[in-house]
Amino acid sequence: MGATGAVGNSFLRILEERKFPIKNFRLLASERSKGKKLKFNGQDYPVEVLTHDSFKDVDIVLASAGASRSLEFLPSAVKAGAVCVDNSSAFRMDEDIPLVVPEVNAKRIRENKGIIANPNCSTIQMVVALWPIHKAAKIKRIVVTTFQSVSGAGQSKINELTEQVKDFVQNKKIVPKELPHQIAFNLIPQIDVFLENGYTKEEMKMVNETRKIMEDPSIQVNATCVRVPVFYAHSESVSIETEKHITPAEVRELLSKAPGVRVVDDPEHKAYPMPIHAEGKDDTFVGRIRQDESVKNGISMWIVADNIRKGAALNAIQIAEELIK
Ligand SMILES: NC(=O)c1ccc[n+]([C@@H]2O[C@H](COP(=O)([O-])OP(=O)(O)OC[C@H]3O[C@@H](n4cnc5c(N)ncnc54)[C@H](OP(=O)(O)O)[C@@H]3O)[C@@H](O)[C@H]2O)c1
Repeated sequence: MGATGAVGNSFLRILEERKFPIKNFRLLASERSKGKKLKFNGQDYPVEVLTHDSFKDVDIVLASAGASRSLEFLPSAVKAGAVCVDNSSAFRMDEDIPLVVPEVNAKRIRENKGIIANPNCSTIQMVVALWPIHKAAKIKRIVVTTFQSVSGAGQSKINELTEQVKDFVQNKKIVPKELPHQIAFNLIPQIDVFLENGYTKEEMKMVNETRKIMEDPSIQVNATCVRVPVFYAHSESVSIETEKHITPAEVRELLSKAPGVRVVDDPEHKAYPMPIHAEGKDDTFVGRIRQDESVKNGISMWIVADNIRKGAALNAIQIAEELIK
C-alpha cells in the first residue's frame, strides 16, 4: 500500500536487496497511479487501485499510504487473513498494537493481532542508539533536537526543495507549495501541527513512542523537531541523563557492539556522521559522543540515519522478516 511513494519505492529496492521470499505481490496506490508500472527484480508490475478487496490471498501487507488509508483499509486486510506492518501513525499508540523496532523489542512482534506499527522515523533512529545505553545505565531524561530531511514528508516535498533551489539560483520568487514556508536555504521549526501544550504532533510522537518502545513510561523526553533543506537522512542532537554514571568511552564501546549501530566518532580527523554519508545506508550512525558537563550523569551525542530506510521501509521489512522466521 503506497507503492508509488517515497517509502513505497524504498520498500521495492530493499525487498530486492534482501531477497525477501515473495511468490506474488501487488502494488497498491491511488486512482492517480492507475496505469503506472513499477520495476521489481527487473520486471514491470502494474499499480492497482487500493480497495477493500485488494487483500485476497495476501500474507503480509506493507502499508505506507498515510494514516487515513491505514485506518480505512487495514481492518479489511486483517479480515482477509493478512498481517500488516503499518508505517503510518494510525495505530502506533493503540495498547493492543505492538510498536516495534526490531533491535529493541522484536519480542513484541509475536503478540500481534493482525497489525504491527512501525514507529515515527525520528523515534526509530533515536531508540536504536539509546536502547543499549538504557539497558546499561537507565536513561531518566532525553533532550533531542531533530534536523529532518524533506523526504520525511514524502515525495512531493523532495520535488518542492528541488524546485525552490532552482528558483533561488535563477533569482526567481520562491512560492512555498506544501511546506508551510520556504525550505531552500532555510530551517522550519515546525513539523506537523501544533498542539495545545505548544509542542508539535511530531515532537509528542517522539515522547510517547519512545516510552512505549522502551517500555518505560518514566523516561522524560523533550523534543524540538526542525525541517531542514536536506534531501535524505535525519540528524539528531541528543542529550541524555542517566541514573548510573557512564563515560563516553563506555558508550562508544557499548554502541560499537550494538546491532544496527555504527559509531563514527573521531573528531580529531573531522569524522562524525552526516546525512550525505547515511543516505542509502541501513545503519544508524552515532558520533560526537561526549560528557554533558552541565548535569551529573549526562552524555551528549549526534545520531544520523536514512529516514526512508531505517526510519521507514527497512524497519518494516525487518519486522516482516521476523514474521516469516
Ligand atoms: N517519508 C518518511 O521518512 C516516512 C517515515 C516514516 C513513516 N512514513 C509514513 O509513510 C507513509 C507514506 O509516506 P511517503 O513519504 O512514502 O509519502 P508519499 O511519497 O507522499 O507517498 C504516499 C503514497 O500513498 C499513496 N496514497 C495516497 N492517497 C491514497 C489513496 N487515497 N489511496 C491509495 N493510496 C494512496 C500514494 O499513491 P499515489 O502516488 O497514487 O498518490 C503514494 O503511493 C505516511 O503515512 C508517512 O507518515 C514516512
